[in-house]
Amino acid sequence: MPSTTNHWSLLYPQADQQRHAVALTQAMQRVCASGSYILGAEVEAFESEFASYLGNNQVVGVASGTDAIELILRALGIGAGSKVAVPSFAPSAVAAGVARSGAEPEFADIEPGTFTLCPEALDALLCSPRGRGVKAAVVVHLYGHPADWESLQRVADEHGIVLLEDCAQAHGALWHGRPVGTLGRAAAFSFYPTKNLAALGDAGAVATNDAALAERVREIRQYGWKQRYVSDRAGVNSRLDELQAAVLRVKLGALNESVLQRRRLAAKYDARLVGNRMVTAPMVRGGCEHAYHQYVVRTKRRDALMQHLQGAGIPVAVHYPVPLHRQQAFGGNNEILLESDRASVAVLSLPMHPYLSEEAVDAVFESLNLFDHEGS
Ligand SMILES: Cc1ncc(COP(=O)(O)O)c(C=O)c1O
Repeated sequence: MPSTTNHWSLLYPQADQQRHAVALTQAMQRVCASGSYILGAEVEAFESEFASYLGNNQVVGVASGTDAIELILRALGIGAGSKVAVPSFAPSAVAAGVARSGAEPEFADIEPGTFTLCPEALDALLCSPRGRGVKAAVVVHLYGHPADWESLQRVADEHGIVLLEDCAQAHGALWHGRPVGTLGRAAAFSFYPTKNLAALGDAGAVATNDAALAERVREIRQYGWKQRYVSDRAGVNSRLDELQAAVLRVKLGALNESVLQRRRLAAKYDARLVGNRMVTAPMVRGGCEHAYHQYVVRTKRRDALMQHLQGAGIPVAVHYPVPLHRQQAFGGNNEILLESDRASVAVLSLPMHPYLSEEAVDAVFESLNLFDHEGS
């Protein structure tokens, strides 16, 4: 993988395009010459190749990850009058996708170690008055770390709700050897240009082993058509276009290697953070393989550290500063979801992508150590 002398001059999306430039140009020329630009041979091929990659039966290409969430819920008949449980510490796209289906998101707290939905918190929500009407939970494998699937499935079974996956940040992650995206009734993927598997624009997919569910998603993504111009059910326009599918086919071939490189860089970060008093490295639960979409540390002095690193030109970010239960768009309330609230003031995403050089990781540490010495 190429590195840069100025570590931060080339950010991930662009570095990814440069790495695949020749193959991408060929793929795009092929599409231009084909005369087919929406839901054609490239989409079909990508759907089948991504299904083989995951090891499940069905993938349906859609226009975005947010749409994938909406379409799964619509296809399950979950909408107005129903509720869907969502971890409160997650990007707002998750709640937006739920709200677009007509269902109401209900928020539950996360585990502090992995930042993923806490099974006990889901159980408490489902046992409470707020939990009445919850039909499904969207489990987010946040930052690329698989959620505690077995425990969540047990809670879901006890309460008779459907468990869905949000894999937008977790392409390449494994839970006890099984790829995420094959664990739940259905899974939503995003291929937004910063994701582990990245298109050159908006794109998403639904993955499932339920052929009937996949068929309903196929119909809903195109006006509810079962056959052309005949809408058997209410639908939307959420099609994957041929250019994005052709781009994704090129990049899918490199996904495993790029996730491995993320893991190598994470191991380097981890090793450097052993014994660090100021910053805690992300944990990995036994049996899980993290996909490191983000490498997120916890620190007590988050805002000062962020300012310091940004001042040194290091691109760090906060994912996410406001938990969903506090956002106005989702009814912003004063309820305390302790771990989500704590995470929102403590997390800091350090630079992480497969084209990052080892020297760049060293540069982050030099800057971290400087802050530690100056601040202590
Ligand atoms: C966890 C998660 N879910 C859903 C989405 C929505 O995906 P998209 O931006 O493709 O709509 C994103 C992307 O930002 C995400 O990170």
